[in-house]
Amino acid sequence: MCGIIGYCGPKPAAQILIDGLKRLEYRGYDSAGICIGNNGSLTVVKKKGKIRDLKAIVPKNLQGNFGIGHTRWATHGGVTDINAHPHTDVSGKIAIAHNGIIENFAVLKAKLESDGITFKSETDSEVIAHLIAQNYKGNLEQAVKESLSLLEGTYGIVCIHIDEPFKIVGARNGSPLVVGIGEKEMFLASDVTAILAHTKQVVYVEDREVVTVTCDDYTITDLKDRPINKKIDEITWELQQIEKGDFAHFMEKEIFEQPESITRAYSGRTEAEQATAKLGGLNLTTKELLNIERIKIIAAGTSFHAGLVAAYLMESIARIPCNAELASEVRYRNPLVERNTLYFAVSQSGETADTLYAMRELQRKGATVLGICNVVGSTIARESDGGVYIHSGPEIAVASTKAFTSQITAFYLFNLILSRMRHMSFESGEWYLKNMLAVPDSIKIVLDKAAQLKDMAGRYAHYKDFLFLGRGINYPVALEGALKLKEISYIHAEGYSAAEIKHGPIALINEETPSVFLVPADRLREKVISNIKEVKARKGRVIAFCNEKDEEIKSIVDDFFEVPKVPGIFNPFVMVVPLQLFAYYCAVELGRDVDQPRNLAKSVTVE
Ligand code: M6R
Repeated sequence: MCGIIGYCGPKPAAQILIDGLKRLEYRGYDSAGICIGNNGSLTVVKKKGKIRDLKAIVPKNLQGNFGIGHTRWATHGGVTDINAHPHTDVSGKIAIAHNGIIENFAVLKAKLESDGITFKSETDSEVIAHLIAQNYKGNLEQAVKESLSLLEGTYGIVCIHIDEPFKIVGARNGSPLVVGIGEKEMFLASDVTAILAHTKQVVYVEDREVVTVTCDDYTITDLKDRPINKKIDEITWELQQIEKGDFAHFMEKEIFEQPESITRAYSGRTEAEQATAKLGGLNLTTKELLNIERIKIIAAGTSFHAGLVAAYLMESIARIPCNAELASEVRYRNPLVERNTLYFAVSQSGETADTLYAMRELQRKGATVLGICNVVGSTIARESDGGVYIHSGPEIAVASTKAFTSQITAFYLFNLILSRMRHMSFESGEWYLKNMLAVPDSIKIVLDKAAQLKDMAGRYAHYKDFLFLGRGINYPVALEGALKLKEISYIHAEGYSAAEIKHGPIALINEETPSVFLVPADRLREKVISNIKEVKARKGRVIAFCNEKDEEIKSIVDDFFEVPKVPGIFNPFVMVVPLQLFAYYCAVELGRDVDQPRNLAKSVTVE
């Protein structure tokens, strides 16, 4: 979604802001802009389209050492140059960039218009610039604070004033904002990737806090002017992690990173002597863990699919009732928080509004919610009652891949802890650990055969509709395979339990609708083979993802990909990776914008 960057320091601001916006491209956007302050002037340059389109119109001689920049993902108002940020007040002395949604903007706009103000854009954000101008009496920070008290909704904002050079005021309520501390230079950004090339020292701004940065200092206060002292955090990500290297796309890089990212997710967390695992951040005593009677997982998109895998796993192995639910649905159905129920909020970004708001609602009702997040210091990570960082490293491609396998790794660890506390024997624990630690090698085997999936994609990318079918713990993997294909290739794909097709979706089967079956040699294999035959009998094409040397399946399908044989519960790892690659190669085959697919944002910070 929208991205923000601000810079104040000795270097030419335009270049720093453009480079920072380029780093934010992965979040998804449709227009971008910058505003540069220099010697009593503010210059705004903004453009719909890509950062390269913006860069092309930034004057080469644009001087100035402080400014703000923004990537916009349209909500209020179409994708136009005028609607792009930054927005200015009538005098052009104030410029703002805003992430989030101002819910009462219509009322505010009507009032401002009745005061004689003419709006230039159709955005909700422009009201902020005019409000700050109305409240400005020589102190930008105060004017921002007074204006914020009138806003309803979510915001991360940055603001500059022509009469207060080398100063940026920022504020947050629901949309992330971080201060970057450099050498005689300061940054504000919605996302650390925007500033990682310049500094690793950051301070996270919380909701209802206002930050003022100058070239060599920053202050954070609450809305009542009370100073807030915060600790400086160190970003652990490396610059090369947010660069593509030799890969064609970030998605490809991230798929191929999975043997390492999964290893990072479990490293230092296994205890061979006890045949169990340890997760330091849970903030739960052994007694509290033992008292858990039920587990509920909330998440969105791919993280939701990881939650579904976890639900199968924990119910079947830890023998604890567990279910996963879409966070967006949980919040508004007045959820019941039952005793001895542990909740997990799963989110790669840690900023997904649907998940965050559902988590807050559950916490308000007294629930203990643990976070499973990738981005360190993200809102869900900070506001949850404990949790697990998955340590995938930055995931830049909009389509989530390595986060999924690391999220489930975290759940496999947690499942082992619970199981070993209850009924699982030492020997079974050892077996479980041995197989879990073997997962990265099994994934390497799949990755070594990527060329087969590329060929397969070449044969299938022209189809318009797909079904993805799996059973048991592979059913959520089928959902994930369908999601991957549709989001980056724009091919219509639906995921179902293979058993479910006879209850409706089988009506879609014809020569033009291939079915992708996940059919490992587990206890449901025979049932899935029956489903395959039902599809074949109706002239449907079938691609099977099956185990090596499964000649029976290979003889009845049109195409197949062999995955290494692993114990049933570990199949999601080896099944999802080829589906990610298949989707990736289909998208490449079709010439899609793989890393930034249309209409999508990496981090969805609005409901
Ligand atoms: O950051 P989160 O894990 O909370 O994001 C949730 C979804 O928005 C995300 O998984 C989305 O579905 C991805 N584009 C899937 O590839």
